[in-house]
Amino acid sequence: AQAPLDASKLQVTQTTKPKTFSKPEDLVFGREFTDHMLTIEWTESEGWLEPKIVPYQNLSLDPATCVFHYAFECFEGMKAYKDKEGSVRLFRPDKNMARLNKSSARIALPTFEPSAFTELISKFANLEKDSIPNQRGYSLYLRPTMIGTQKTLGVGPPGSALLYVIASPVGPYYPTGFKAVSLEATDYAVRAWPGGVGDKKLGANYAPCIVPQLEAASRGFQQNLWLFGEEQYVTEVGTMNMFAVIKDKATGQKELVTAPLDGTILEGVTRDSVLALARERLVPEGWKVSERKYTIKELADADKEGRLVEAFGAGTAAIVSPIRKISWKGEMINCGLKETEESGEIALRMKTWMENIQYGDEEHEWSYRT
Ligand code: COI
Repeated sequence: AQAPLDASKLQVTQTTKPKTFSKPEDLVFGREFTDHMLTIEWTESEGWLEPKIVPYQNLSLDPATCVFHYAFECFEGMKAYKDKEGSVRLFRPDKNMARLNKSSARIALPTFEPSAFTELISKFANLEKDSIPNQRGYSLYLRPTMIGTQKTLGVGPPGSALLYVIASPVGPYYPTGFKAVSLEATDYAVRAWPGGVGDKKLGANYAPCIVPQLEAASRGFQQNLWLFGEEQYVTEVGTMNMFAVIKDKATGQKELVTAPLDGTILEGVTRDSVLALARERLVPEGWKVSERKYTIKELADADKEGRLVEAFGAGTAAIVSPIRKISWKGEMINCGLKETEESGEIALRMKTWMENIQYGDEEHEWSYRT
């Protein structure tokens, strides 16, 4: 019988050569890693083997290992925060566990007991506590990863896998405060399609996004905007979910809108949190909150009529990323910011609300004490 993932079997081997990090303000996203890594092997015959925390080290894999050939890889992005008391907190880890299990199941990799993996991640994050900067905006970015490790060029379900977690201290995405980004709508490539895997966090979804991003960058835009279909529905911005604030033509009611989870949209934890906070805190102020399809033309028309109030991307790395303008078919859509502004009101309020919860300044069920 296959053994389930068992957190009580954790073996810890601590490093004898602790490293030092750059000053918090000099940290570059995802460049420096902590002293240890969490690893758990899985085999078809035995199930999950005993979890290990070991000194951070290279993996040794045969060149024929299936991850290198057929992209058996999925991952998560989550953060550990240090609160005022110095305790380590995670943010909605249940969401990351559920999504990783969905991603791995889709590529024939094993699933695991969510609470067992959360417990292991908590122990790992606590062991790396000294690597978590304690200023607001700073955190420890955690990267749970699963790969197929069977040595074979045969195309089939991997008979062995490795689940591991590495950790990287990170600073605020915008160290000097918000910087609104300019986007280019990509009309020659699509990120995801109905029946595809765009709603899963597979590494294979990310590599093909770089060329459109470079194309956008070559024309002076920081990110690309992903559209879908003849209707040119707005889907995502770079690696983030997309939100817009549009005023209703007839009533003037403000609507916070994002694309629905129809299988082409990554089920962002930040996306879900923004929607929940908006429903709880903006709806009572008279707002409408919608998960619905909307087109780039709807944004362009709203801009022309002075009804596009703001737009922003939402993801774990940046929380929110305000958008200044979008280039689309030679047209420039202005997303409601004055020239001197770097963020709209909702992006700023969302960032504050989210951080208050993440750092434990506001007690909330989303904050998970390790
Ligand atoms: C995010 O957190 O916004 C991301 O998806 C970025 C990550 C792939 C580095």
